[in-house]
Amino acid sequence: MKLTESLRKELRVTVDYTNMTDKYLGDKGISAKTLDSHKKLARAAHAYVSENRGRDELFMGWTELPYNQSAIVADILATAKLIRRKFDNFVVLGIGGSALGPAMAYTALCHLHYNDLPKSKRRGPKFFVEDNVDPVRMKQLLDVIDVTKTCFNVISKSGATSETMAQYLIISDLLTKAGVNIKENVIFTTDASRGNLIKISEELGGVKRYVLPDGVGGRFSELSPVGLLPAAVLGIDIKSLLKGAAYMDKLCKSPDMRKNPALMCATLQYIAMQDGKNIGVLMPYSDNLKYVSDWYAQLWAESLGKNVTLDGKACHVGQTPVKALGVTDQHSQVQLYTEGPFDKVVTFLSVGSYKEKTPIPHGCENIPDVAFLGGHTMEELIKAENKATAYALTKAGRLNYTICLPEINEFTLGQLLYLFELQTAYAGAMFNIDTYNQPGVEAGKKATFALLGKPGYDLQKRDLNAAEADPAYII
Ligand code: PA5
Repeated sequence: MKLTESLRKELRVTVDYTNMTDKYLGDKGISAKTLDSHKKLARAAHAYVSENRGRDELFMGWTELPYNQSAIVADILATAKLIRRKFDNFVVLGIGGSALGPAMAYTALCHLHYNDLPKSKRRGPKFFVEDNVDPVRMKQLLDVIDVTKTCFNVISKSGATSETMAQYLIISDLLTKAGVNIKENVIFTTDASRGNLIKISEELGGVKRYVLPDGVGGRFSELSPVGLLPAAVLGIDIKSLLKGAAYMDKLCKSPDMRKNPALMCATLQYIAMQDGKNIGVLMPYSDNLKYVSDWYAQLWAESLGKNVTLDGKACHVGQTPVKALGVTDQHSQVQLYTEGPFDKVVTFLSVGSYKEKTPIPHGCENIPDVAFLGGHTMEELIKAENKATAYALTKAGRLNYTICLPEINEFTLGQLLYLFELQTAYAGAMFNIDTYNQPGVEAGKKATFALLGKPGYDLQKRDLNAAEADPAYII
């Protein structure tokens, strides 16, 4: 994408927080006075994030990903070209931060029925992200791919995640049985120096490997090789994705929340959370953006859901992310959002111009209830419904705001991802928590190790076995 300065401005992602304000929501809205009273906190959060940019030891390496990867990008593009030539399928084996990003970018930037397109109309091999250990799913994936013609990108920072490593064991066994040298069909994306995938790679005589930098945690890794390799294989313009992120970084330089969209979103959400709005709905009006909600849910929930502040005080903060899709969920969840408890903030993701307009032909002229639709386009319809839902929520006194992508492409998606990452970093700083750890997730990982007999977890295994369900409570 040739990004002139005027095209960048045209494609700028914006935040419209009109419907968060008391001007439009009355006493249910946030006043300018309340915003002003959070200025100091917002400035401090901005300062914390700016001063610690790129610091690996704080897991803030993600801030620099738009700038420090030119050699890696060149390598990824060359590798992607080879993969496209050689393989019929590309399968990501990973989970959490090692899978949600690739799945989100695929859905956002590829044809919605990509795998069903004939080969001549696809820019790359068929694409699958296997982020579960549902045995049926694994078996049924194997029903539709030929492993010998498949490139498996095993993504795991630790190389110790049971789900991913179980998948790896299955596919490496299948490849060996099919007479394939594993290293021909496998690419690892993993930590720089630690982790089992490095050892495995060495045992196999050197598997192609990409590095997930030390200071980049899983949920902040989409703009690292974790997301860039799968995207490049799909023919996604990864340079524009990174340029979009850098552009949003530039738009968020100011410590003044009114001039910094990510800081404004973080401050609004922080104020709302302090007022008991413990649910954050993300509602894209686009099927392409549907999985942005899954990616964001992890980023927001795993980063902010914490029980202790950095100075050791108990806190129990966080906001439960809810995934909704416009317009589909207008016909289900929106009833609750409009009339249920005042415990939510709804964030709409709107699209300025959709890739397709899809005209609605005239017809049913004798039935006014239907005929009025003729002559419009589906783009007009979805945009009208987006506006109508925001209007209805506002009339009902419900906090909502809109992030608008002028169109969906690599440059705007890059902006959106970086906006959410910065918003999360600012919000974490406001709560004074460790935004980058995940002891709750790791507790589950360790309990799984114990249950499946990993050495060193005997004590926990005993504890878990003692916690068997009590028959007295099974009905
Ligand atoms: O954000 C996180 O850290 C987690 O969701 C991890 O990405 C997830 O648990 C997978 O871990 P790993 O990449 O080590 O396999």
